[in-house]
Amino acid sequence: MTAFSQHPPAEHILVHLSDTHLLGSGRKLYDQIDSDRPLTTLMERLEASGLDIEALVFTGDLSDRAEVGAYERLRDMIEPWAQKLDAELVWVMGNHDEREPFTTVLWREEPTAETRDRVYQLGGLRLIALDSTVPGYHHGELTPGQLEWLARELATPAPHGTLIALHHPPIPTPIDLMGLIELDNQPALADVICGTDVRGVLGGHLHYSTFSTFAGVPVSVCAASCYNIDLVADASKLLSAKSNNLSSSLIHVYPDQVVFSQVPMDEDTELTSYDASYRQVIESMSPEERREMFSNKNSEFNRRSDQEQSGF
Ligand SMILES: [Fe+2]
Ligand SMILES: [Fe+2]
Repeated sequence: MTAFSQHPPAEHILVHLSDTHLLGSGRKLYDQIDSDRPLTTLMERLEASGLDIEALVFTGDLSDRAEVGAYERLRDMIEPWAQKLDAELVWVMGNHDEREPFTTVLWREEPTAETRDRVYQLGGLRLIALDSTVPGYHHGELTPGQLEWLARELATPAPHGTLIALHHPPIPTPIDLMGLIELDNQPALADVICGTDVRGVLGGHLHYSTFSTFAGVPVSVCAASCYNIDLVADASKLLSAKSNNLSSSLIHVYPDQVVFSQVPMDEDTELTSYDASYRQVIESMSPEERREMFSNKNSEFNRRSDQEQSGF
């Protein structure tokens, strides 16, 4: 397939989701949020997109109350899609999760109270899932033992570098209240990451989509798939949670860059589209013809698009 960009194709494509907060027996959050529908709708769209997805990464708060039934529903909902998409399924612990049911249901292993950290090899790309939870609490931490383990793991670089996935993102939040339950001792994690092959940090927990850097590494926080926090809520409120702005994130890992793109999970309406078969027509053109047709504002193609979009 002819590439239209100066950049080479992505070497890896991952999908990042977070904070599904499922309840057992299909009960609704706040008696009104259907946490299942956005997930299944996204999975249907991912399959229809034809994207070659290597992993589905869920960064914690998978259940709302750590019910076995909630984990079973999530597993039974998502596992068949992971198989269909031929994608690795990565479950990460969040503060609403508990290690025993998480382990027995999602990992299908013997129950344990140990931190649930795991390394995934995705064809040259290493993904390290870190358990940043503190049993019985909502804030996050990484124990000295976890940091030592991480440093040992990172001592050997991976061919395509490393992504770290953890629930509590190591960045500031403008929602002051969330600062009360953030990740403790973030400089200790920065010390471990600095100078390694870590190319990105994936987080959740905040219930809004945001991007930053940490120890010089890009950080992408995925919004929740159930309800989200309004960053510009009325000043009379310390915190305001709303049912919209559900989204997932696409992660494209290129040889030299990592690109994070938000994929909304709310209802949408298609306004216009180009048929996939049109690609063949574009491929048959020379680079000069493509530039004139798609970049020149006065090309017949652009004049027709302008007419359709703005009416003149
Ligand atoms: Fe959450
Ligand atoms: Fe959380």
